[in-house]
Amino acid sequence: MKLTDEEKKILDGHRGVALQKAMEIVVALGQIYDAEKLIPITSAQVSGVSYKNLGDAGLEFLQEWSASGAAVCVPTTLNPAGMDLEHWQKLGFHQDFAEKQMRVISAYQSFGITPVCSCTPYLFGNLPLFGEHIAWAESSAVVFANSVLGARTNREGGPSALAAAILGKTAEYGLHLDVCRRPTHIVEIQCPLRTEADYSALGYWMGKQVNNGIPYFIGITAPTLAQLKALGAAMAASGAVALFHIEGVTPEAKQMAPSLLSTSCQTINITSLADAYHQLNQSPRDIDLVALGCPHASWEELQQIARWIKGKKVKTKLWITTSSTTTHFAQKAGIAKIIEDAGGSILSDTCMIVAPIQDLGFRTMATNSGKAAYYAPSHCGVQVRFGSLEDCLTAAITGRFPDVSSRH
Ligand code: F3S
Repeated sequence: MKLTDEEKKILDGHRGVALQKAMEIVVALGQIYDAEKLIPITSAQVSGVSYKNLGDAGLEFLQEWSASGAAVCVPTTLNPAGMDLEHWQKLGFHQDFAEKQMRVISAYQSFGITPVCSCTPYLFGNLPLFGEHIAWAESSAVVFANSVLGARTNREGGPSALAAAILGKTAEYGLHLDVCRRPTHIVEIQCPLRTEADYSALGYWMGKQVNNGIPYFIGITAPTLAQLKALGAAMAASGAVALFHIEGVTPEAKQMAPSLLSTSCQTINITSLADAYHQLNQSPRDIDLVALGCPHASWEELQQIARWIKGKKVKTKLWITTSSTTTHFAQKAGIAKIIEDAGGSILSDTCMIVAPIQDLGFRTMATNSGKAAYYAPSHCGVQVRFGSLEDCLTAAITGRFPDVSSRH
């Protein structure tokens, strides 16, 4: 890999150990993936924030690196933490866990990162433009940035995104290059897609089919932001999809020469989502927790939930996870009060997967997120029901998930 003189000096330690460590990580990845050079980035999104995932070893790694004087030099946002950073006590999180989690947050703050913790940084200011190179971890944010915004990032890990944020550079390989952004599969949608859950079910199914391929969808018209979030997040979870195109919708699909849809692309026809729904619904219908907001809920989704639940009362716990900026907005608009009056909670800065929900006593969960439904059994030890927002809110009101077996 060709480095500039200044980059070589950093790598050799002439600019201090903090920068040297960052350069070592970025260069090592560049060498593994045959990058020719480093390129500047305009922003970073760092994962590895929940103490549940980091543990003591991860916390020590962050504390040591920040103590050496490392600081980010591009706008950098954080992934969800393991708890609501303000209301953890009220929500039942344990003191020990909270103390460790706050140490993680302090370590990130000492890198100069503002602790707004969300997997949808593009909804509150970390919004890269078309063609910008960025270094993002968090697979659902990566696939959204690449596909919907047309920015360029690989699926970074937490340390490599942090290293790139400290250097302001990443190695030029993979999805930073035009040649790696071409479709590998043409996916013809021949069944209706009505709800976010339908997009999630499609994403779950496609991730299993294409793994780390790049699907080009035909037959999806006018999807909403929530539907695009749901589709990408599920594909990035059940597979390793980091980029998709939708004919007539996503920016690169609009510019793509027909020749790029080459005969080497495999074609997949989707005529039904029944198998996806079936696979994600093998659990009991009695529900402890209804968890919405994966990826983090947008302002529109919170409004939709408030409209549906106004004047009703929940029987289960109802969590809606989002960023603290969206929560503040919801409080000012009176939406948070409607949800709280119904017995629900808006949780900021965390989510149902990275929080230690099994320690809070939950055993069964309903969600409208394909990503959460896919991860919850293995990451959180809960059994899951998956369905539309209305199905989940009905479960919250009745305590029982509706029987949807004949619907799909
Ligand atoms: Fe975000 Fe947590 Fe889902 S990080 S994408 S809400 S699993």
